[in-house]
Amino acid sequence: MAFIDWSSKNRVGITEVDNQHKKLFDLLNSLHQATVNGEEQSALGRILDELVDYTVYHFETEEKLFLEYGYPGYEDHKEVHDDLTRQAVELQEEFREGSVTISFDLLDFLNDWLVTHTTGLDQEMAMFFKGKKID
Ligand SMILES: [Fe+2]
Ligand SMILES: [Fe+2]
Repeated sequence: MAFIDWSSKNRVGITEVDNQHKKLFDLLNSLHQATVNGEEQSALGRILDELVDYTVYHFETEEKLFLEYGYPGYEDHKEVHDDLTRQAVELQEEFREGSVTISFDLLDFLNDWLVTHTTGLDQEMAMFFKGKKID
């Protein structure tokens, strides 16, 4: 069993968004596996960078859809994205400075926010987009 499993409760029904969520889950699984394998922090840092960059790209994708379709939850959802981005960038900086290492606690924290966000606010978004032709 993978560290984080994508399942139907994570599905939002927008192909592009679902594929991006899967990719985020894959990246977190890679980071977990590399940590279990005891890889160097520099190798872990590269995966962390990829995860953070892809998260930012993913949030932009959702926010573009919100604006395009006039999603009423735009402001609130964007605020959460901005907050998560701030945390992720902070983490990246702390990692670069050497004040933080990739630990299982940190992996649990990333797991938790990915699951919470994809099963929470992203599902509210899914309800709004249901029945709209996006793909
Ligand atoms: Fe998302
Ligand atoms: Fe989101």
